[in-house]
Amino acid sequence: MAYAAGVDVGSTQTKAVIIDEERNIIARSLLDTGANVVQAAEKAFKEAVESKGILEEEVEWVIGTGYGRYRVTFGNDQVTEISCHGRGASHLFPQTRTVVDMGGQDTKAIRVSPGGQIEDFCMNDKCAAGTGRFLGAASAALDIPLDDLGDTALQSDKGVRISTTCTVFAESEVLAWLGKGKKVHDILWGVHESIATRSLGLMRRVGLEDEITFTGGVSRNVAMVKALEDALGHKLNVSDDCHYMGALGAALFAMDHILASRTAAGTEEVSP
Ligand SMILES: Nc1ncnc2c1ncn2[C@@H]1O[C@H](COP(=O)(O)OP(=O)(O)OP(=O)(O)O)[C@@H](O)[C@H]1O
Ligand SMILES: [Mg+2]
Repeated sequence: MAYAAGVDVGSTQTKAVIIDEERNIIARSLLDTGANVVQAAEKAFKEAVESKGILEEEVEWVIGTGYGRYRVTFGNDQVTEISCHGRGASHLFPQTRTVVDMGGQDTKAIRVSPGGQIEDFCMNDKCAAGTGRFLGAASAALDIPLDDLGDTALQSDKGVRISTTCTVFAESEVLAWLGKGKKVHDILWGVHESIATRSLGLMRRVGLEDEITFTGGVSRNVAMVKALEDALGHKLNVSDDCHYMGALGAALFAMDHILASRTAAGTEEVSP
């Protein structure tokens, strides 16, 4: 039995996924990327391998993805995160045509073909509006842990209207609303709604088609799922593995390589 791995070194978090020949996920790991990107990649891979008691040598091919993909020094190859999120989403949800990846730094909208090929993609501008960082600024200003943001926001029945799209100004706008006596959950829901509206614009730019799969760490935030579904007017595909989608896609490309090279070797053996 051969194993394949994908290591997604994101700007904020590093994810590793190991799959078997049936393309089932057998191990995953997640940690903060931090300042030492090379070390984060190594540690994520090691943690995933050790969690299942596999030997590193049993992992025949490793593909790096994410912004730090070239820092996966032990990897065999690199693939862009756009391709990996598209591939992973099409694998977990085969009817996927649009992928929205919300990570720590960027939001990306990707249109995929029925076979999972990338047809088009679009990214938010560099000022990190509409992303995990924007949510991070709001959570810091309101002193609410990131993990509780979603549940708190869902207590709202009327969000305040957040006008800034800039992370730098998000904190002061949030504090200004607090000063005006607005409730924390209404401010937070407003933040989620504002991100959802901007993300919808991004998705429309690539040509919004059903089914839509939500990937990246922000897909773990229940209020973000609801805000996006409200903006879209229908349901999204989302699962616990959506945070690992880039790493899963990379692992799937790695398994393609293992199986293809085995077939090629077999063909050589039988040819005269
Ligand atoms: N349990 C959680 N609940 C809510 N939000 C979460 C949770 N875990 C992670 N996040 C959000 O996900 C973000 C990280 O997502 P992800 O790992 O996809 O980013 P990344 O790949 O490092 O970034 P990028 O793709 O932009 O380079 C965090 O910044 C945080 O906002
Ligand atoms: Mg990412």
